Amino acid sequence: MIQILNLDHYYPDGTHALKGINLTISDGEFLLICGPNGSGKTTLIRLISGLLKPFSGSIRVNGFNTVNESKQVRGLIGMVFQDPDSQIVGETVREDITFGPENLGLSQKEIDERVDWALRVMGLETLSEKPCYLLSGGEKRRLAIAGVLAMSPQVILFDEPFSFLDYPGIQEVLKHLVHLHREGHTLIVTTHDVEKVIAHVDRIAIIHDGELKMAGPPEELITKLPQFGIRPPCYALLGKEKVSWLE
Ligand SMILES: Nc1ncnc2c1ncn2[C@@H]1O[C@H](COP(=O)(O)OP(=O)(O)OP(=O)(O)O)[C@@H](O)[C@H]1O
Ligand SMILES: [Mg+2]
Repeated sequence: MIQILNLDHYYPDGTHALKGINLTISDGEFLLICGPNGSGKTTLIRLISGLLKPFSGSIRVNGFNTVNESKQVRGLIGMVFQDPDSQIVGETVREDITFGPENLGLSQKEIDERVDWALRVMGLETLSEKPCYLLSGGEKRRLAIAGVLAMSPQVILFDEPFSFLDYPGIQEVLKHLVHLHREGHTLIVTTHDVEKVIAHVDRIAIIHDGELKMAGPPEELITKLPQFGIRPPCYALLGKEKVSWLE
């Protein structure tokens, strides 16, 4: 369980990026955090991952505080960054995916198995020896996801996972999100483009100008999205039943 209590965050230049956030995320929940550009989505998930320290308030992951128990939190959480370049560290695709499992102290056999599996599920097998800097935007995104999958953290944070991806790429990532959710992982996805994922989430949280405006099941909040600068999915605009991007 993730408990966010009275969370406020200021950046050093004085930007008040998050204001009084209170939110509890259950184990195994698939949560969509949506809000327009600059509303505070990335700030919130960087705080949850422990990459940023809150100005005030607290975040606990399975009871561990992200500030003074960051080591335990790092073992529970994996994050796929909004900008894939900022998380790619290896020279080649295989090397990059290997970093995470290597740091978990697994046996070489298990590391190899996990890396091969992650390469396969993200469709990167033929690119495994390619230098990372030569990859396309969509391939880099798949690599970033493969790196996190190989570590199999209990909680996975995805910051704008569909950016740079084409239609099959979106479906592929979505398929994995749905699968991870079914396997019991806790998933938190941020996006301003709710259309692609909303049919699969348990709950949406709307943030606007650093404040958590509402949180609840998609069916309840879908009509409230436009007032916070978020476009509802097409099916809702047309008054139709929910439609998955996997269909
Ligand atoms: N390092 C930083 N220093 C100062 N201000 C920052 C920093 N990072 C983000 N901000 C500001 O904090 C606010 C929230 O930014 P954040 O990146 O969390 O928004 P977001 O909802 O993820 O936006 P987007 O949809 O564009 O990714 C914005 O006003 C942004 O300008
Ligand atoms: Mg962002």
